[in-house]
Amino acid sequence: MRKKLYIQTYGCQMNEHDSERMAGLLAPDGYTVTDRMDEADLILMNTCSIRDKAEQKAFSELGRIRELHRRRPELIVGVAGCMARQEGAALLERHPWIRLVFGSKQIDQLPSLLRESTGSGRAVIAVDDPGGTAPSLPSHRKPGVRAWVSIMEGCENRCSFCVVPHSRGRERSRLSGEIVEEVRGLARQGFREVTLLGQNVNSYGRTSSEGVDFAELLRRLDGIEGLDRVRFTTSHPSAVTDRMIRAMAELPAVCEHLHLPLQSGSDRILERMNREYTTEDYRRRIEALRTAVPGLTLTTDIIVGFPGETEEDFGLTLKAVAEFGFTGLFAFKYSKRPHTPALALDGHLDEAVKSARLHRLLALQQELVAARQRSLVGSNQEVLFEGASQSYPGRLFGRTRANDQLHVEASLAMVGRLAHVIVTQRRAHRLEGALSAV
Ligand code: 5AD
Ligand code: SF4
Repeated sequence: MRKKLYIQTYGCQMNEHDSERMAGLLAPDGYTVTDRMDEADLILMNTCSIRDKAEQKAFSELGRIRELHRRRPELIVGVAGCMARQEGAALLERHPWIRLVFGSKQIDQLPSLLRESTGSGRAVIAVDDPGGTAPSLPSHRKPGVRAWVSIMEGCENRCSFCVVPHSRGRERSRLSGEIVEEVRGLARQGFREVTLLGQNVNSYGRTSSEGVDFAELLRRLDGIEGLDRVRFTTSHPSAVTDRMIRAMAELPAVCEHLHLPLQSGSDRILERMNREYTTEDYRRRIEALRTAVPGLTLTTDIIVGFPGETEEDFGLTLKAVAEFGFTGLFAFKYSKRPHTPALALDGHLDEAVKSARLHRLLALQQELVAARQRSLVGSNQEVLFEGASQSYPGRLFGRTRANDQLHVEASLAMVGRLAHVIVTQRRAHRLEGALSAV
């Protein structure tokens, strides 16, 4: 029997991709994906708990789904992902109408958990933290140009603000051969670019016995027929090894862009965050990267208003952001997370202080992006076209290898193809381009 599945996803690309995997796993049981919640037989909420805001959004959505469930009691509702693992049985106590609660490491069990629940008519909960290697799972992807591939999950670091070690558990990596096979299959289906995903993507292999590290994995993926580009996110500065830098420099498919969260420009705060590097360590790593990989762009994450952050510490962050030449950054106000060591630190700041600092950082961020865009006008770039531009009808949207976004006059037949583009102008915070002969 055909059944309809609606998945509501919150949070990062890992979660987006986990949702593709849930849909892929349920397809053999007759579930097709719908984008209309009201016609679903099964609703899965794939939740995020990285900051308080994401969690609040999920809780209010849960209220809406509860209304649907009141009208249609046969509707099956499951809560997955980080919040599910964090809240566990408490979620079922508050919402006894929910049928499934499972963590990101139980996605492979989803079909059996669902059968168990429908068979018994009772709720099932599965949120433990198995070790070993991460399984290879089928994914339901929309046909396209770019695909996500999960290579590892969880995190062995203990950044004091971060709930991930609790919500996603211990690090485990997939076997390299299975990743290579999946990417080969994607290239055969017509995908031209893959983004390798992991909370700590460049520590791939650290907890497995296979002896393949991130640099070696990149080497095994480079040169796959039909695959033009490889990207990856998110990297940790301490796991940027010389081997990784060499691989990025030598491998034609690996793009010249790195997302490398700095979090703060103050060594005192970095230590309180337990990030395990100083700004000087970070500076040395990016200098080595830039020397080896010409044209490399760097983007970053910054947390403002971490407990104990003084005006001087924040000033050091602004200074570092300006100095390190990021081409983009994500800025977040520190958010208190359950089970995290930062909760116990002194010096928690007022919301107003955090907001004011966030605004100052965002103003700097806009300047950085504008400066980067202006520097590109007139240049010739290799662009991979991903589809029609959402902002400019009649144009295509594409990215450079350095991850700059361009809106280009070109026909739809160019989607999925590489082309040389002259960046013609910057308008309304966007870059426009025209196809070039070379
Ligand atoms: N508060 C604010 N930002 C956070 N991040 C992680 N945990 C928190 C928190 N408790 C940010 C970090 C990380 C990004 C994914 O989210 O900057 O790199
Ligand atoms: Fe969280 Fe730090 Fe692990 Fe990133 S490296 S997931 S910030 S604990």
